[in-house]
Amino acid sequence: MSINHGVGSANGKIILMGEHSVVYGEPSVAIPFPATQIKTEVTTAQTETTIDCLFYKGLINDMPELLESLKKVIEVSLTTLGHSDDHLALTVTSTIPAERGMGSSAAVAVATTRAIYDFYDVELTQDELLRIVGISEKIAHGNPSGLDALMTSSSIPYYYVKGQPFIPISLNLDAVLVVADTGMTGQTKEAVASVGKKVASNNQAIYQAKIKQLGELAKASRTYLEENQADKLGIAMNDAQVLLAELGVSSLELDALVISALSHNAIGAKLTGGGRGGCMIALARNRAEATIIAQALEETGAKATWLYEMSGK
Ligand code: MEV
Repeated sequence: MSINHGVGSANGKIILMGEHSVVYGEPSVAIPFPATQIKTEVTTAQTETTIDCLFYKGLINDMPELLESLKKVIEVSLTTLGHSDDHLALTVTSTIPAERGMGSSAAVAVATTRAIYDFYDVELTQDELLRIVGISEKIAHGNPSGLDALMTSSSIPYYYVKGQPFIPISLNLDAVLVVADTGMTGQTKEAVASVGKKVASNNQAIYQAKIKQLGELAKASRTYLEENQADKLGIAMNDAQVLLAELGVSSLELDALVISALSHNAIGAKLTGGGRGGCMIALARNRAEATIIAQALEETGAKATWLYEMSGK
């Protein structure tokens, strides 16, 4: 925090339970994933406002449509602060794989909003941050629940129901989570829209029931996490994967990784995030078993794997 320099960061997120159903007001459980991070730095520019990120380097006014949500976050932040005519130079660096269900679009918006507020030395409340990121997420995801914005700006796990106060969760599970990246780009916007069509179709009763069941599984999972019931959480994850596949948001690659994890002793496995590519998660009893599962997942085609202690230590 200094004059002529601002910095902001955000982390990836992993949805344990409740992706997609959270959009319809059902509960969800998610954890911040600090193994992957995004950082935005802001300085003064000689020209009109510029941005330097993995996908583009140049004037923000010429940014490709793909980055429309990031452009929006910059515009809204500057307008809110009354500095829309200023010339800034933004640099974004990231270790969050893009479009893999880890919340990269929300994370870049969180880091960038924080960096702009830091540049002007203005305090940013969480409500204001979530409001601004929500506007950009609407462009990125169409109908965002707000979960990604919350989790990429958070350092603790949350139980989240859209529109309700979010409830912190204390992790207390003797288990290790394996996260694996299919390497395939997920299509959250399309996946959210396609679930939306099913939920509003002639068969809506069937799909609404599945959404409800996903919500019930997420609700129970909160208790399993807090009361150290890894086996029950694993079963709930498997049940959720079946429902998510029935909603049409799994993929061949995700299914293959889920099967591989389960055949290597995982207690449960499912996709995480928007699906149709992106990442999956598997629950292991301990670090040694998690390492074996991670290796099997890489042999099955995962492009990267991470381990996450669920004991909260
Ligand atoms: C995407 O990370 C999570 C979804 O539930 C969408 C959302 O919550 O906005 C698929």
